[in-house]
Amino acid sequence: MSKTFDVVVIGGGPAGYIAAIRAAQLGFNTACIDEWKNDKGGPAPGGTCTNVGCIPSKALLQSSEHFEHAGHAFADHGIGLKDLSIDIAKMLGRKDTVVKQNNDGILYLFKKNKITFFHGRGSFVKAGDAGYEIKVSGATEDTLIGKDIIIATGSNARALPGAPFDEESILSNDGALRIPSVPAKLGVIGSGVIGLEMGSVWRRLGAEVTVLEALPTFLGAVDEQIAKEAQKAFMRQRLKIELGVKISEVKKDKKGVSVSYTSAKGDAKTLEVDKLIVSIGRVPNTTGLNAEAVGLKIDERGAIVVDDDCRTNLPKVWAVGDVVRGPMLAHKAEEEGVAVAERIAGQHGHVNFNTIPWVIYTSPEIAWVGQTEQQLKAAGRAYKAGTFPFLANGRARALGDTTGMVKFLADAATDEILGVHIVGPMASELIAEAVVAMEFKASAEDIARICHAHPSLSEATKEAALAVDKRTLNF
Ligand code: FAD
Ligand code: NAI
Repeated sequence: MSKTFDVVVIGGGPAGYIAAIRAAQLGFNTACIDEWKNDKGGPAPGGTCTNVGCIPSKALLQSSEHFEHAGHAFADHGIGLKDLSIDIAKMLGRKDTVVKQNNDGILYLFKKNKITFFHGRGSFVKAGDAGYEIKVSGATEDTLIGKDIIIATGSNARALPGAPFDEESILSNDGALRIPSVPAKLGVIGSGVIGLEMGSVWRRLGAEVTVLEALPTFLGAVDEQIAKEAQKAFMRQRLKIELGVKISEVKKDKKGVSVSYTSAKGDAKTLEVDKLIVSIGRVPNTTGLNAEAVGLKIDERGAIVVDDDCRTNLPKVWAVGDVVRGPMLAHKAEEEGVAVAERIAGQHGHVNFNTIPWVIYTSPEIAWVGQTEQQLKAAGRAYKAGTFPFLANGRARALGDTTGMVKFLADAATDEILGVHIVGPMASELIAEAVVAMEFKASAEDIARICHAHPSLSEATKEAALAVDKRTLNF
């Protein structure tokens, strides 16, 4: 006997579980199917984000930052430490606990919202008059009928050709989050978000880290001035980053991994490392959906084809998050999940792609929203820029972290904020004010006229807004 639901969500990552919660809030009888297993074979909803992404990476970034502060920053505060050490097993255990708390939190939210959870793989069987038939297989076996289907099956790490992940010496984000002891030499392919975050974790813990990047520019999507400032900071931290390389071969040997590549100057080089993290982007995940059974359209990149409202080519089938176009970010995935549930209810769900913030959780943190200076130049848009360095911010001095700046870009004629870019302490939190401002179409002057608490890092935001009109007060 199949079970009928108003909404069946396939995938329980940030896109799927949030879509399910919003659908249930709107009064729909909702099911969510997710196949992720914990180490005991039990359900572990939350997807990449909770299990091998956002949450565990931030847990390790926190642990390694404490270690680095204890080793390098405490002395300035007059705090002496003898025999500083790190217990990697304990650090990884703490990270696993944080992950489990999040898995359990989502299971609780399913109960609280009366969402029926199925632990297993969801795949299409056929379309019928009552809705789509979905088979659940794996930990649970069942057949469901969904009047509306939301696909939220996420993404997987892309491997280098000829070098599949073994998670022992060639690591995806999964293996990178559970290296059992600090490798003496760690190689990273790709200086994107994962490469920089995971490279930072293991460098802080003592590994010699070399990052090999194919593109000739560092963090090409980031505002150039901000990317340069960040690159200088990473070089001071002795994170080696080589740009413009072409990887020719990755070979495993008894000692570890050897990477042959051609440098930007054309020299043939080899990098010998104990472990290699490959972080060269992610691919949408549609394996196991049996998309062919219903004729669901998938593009050449493997992403499910959707329109601006996340509608697929099939009536009443929607797709959200990493499995569709757009940035692969948890908060973008969640926004799409909410918007689709609201559209199913006949409401006007909305996602503003112009105000999705980006954060790279390195030290210094890098965060931005809106357009970069190079994008404005390329578009021929007349703009004004204002920057304010954390060096001139009292709270940053008290914290002992004065790296970086806040940068505002505003329309030359109307003063509307077009982009805000931050490199420096707590950039991840500071960017929220800029997102709100842009969402409300504020001008730089609006921010400049708002009272900000003293002493706070947010004063650097106000000062950067003042800098647009060339009237900073503290610099
Ligand atoms: P996913 O989180 O991938 O979830 C998809 C779920 O669907 C999975 O549980 C999967 O098992 C399940 N599934 C797939 N197919 C089926 C099926 N047929 N049946 C049942 N279940 C299925 N983003 C940020 O915004 N901030 C960060 O700090 C951040 N850090 C990251 C760090 C790392 C190391 C990585 C790898 C990613 C990070 N991301 C971050 C990106 C973020 O994790 C993704 O954008 C987000 O998880 C996408 O959510 P999703 O729900 O679309 O997919
Ligand atoms: P990425 O797209 O951020 O970076 C990949 C990098 O690898 C690029 O700089 C690219 O030029 C380079 N590259 C590609 N092929 C290469 C090759 N053959 N040799 C050398 N370099 C090569 O992808 P990444 O780091 O794998 O992360 C995937 C996604 O996960 C991110 O784009 C982001 O959407 C998400 N993420 C978000 C985080 C956050 O919000 N803080 C943290 C981690 C991941």
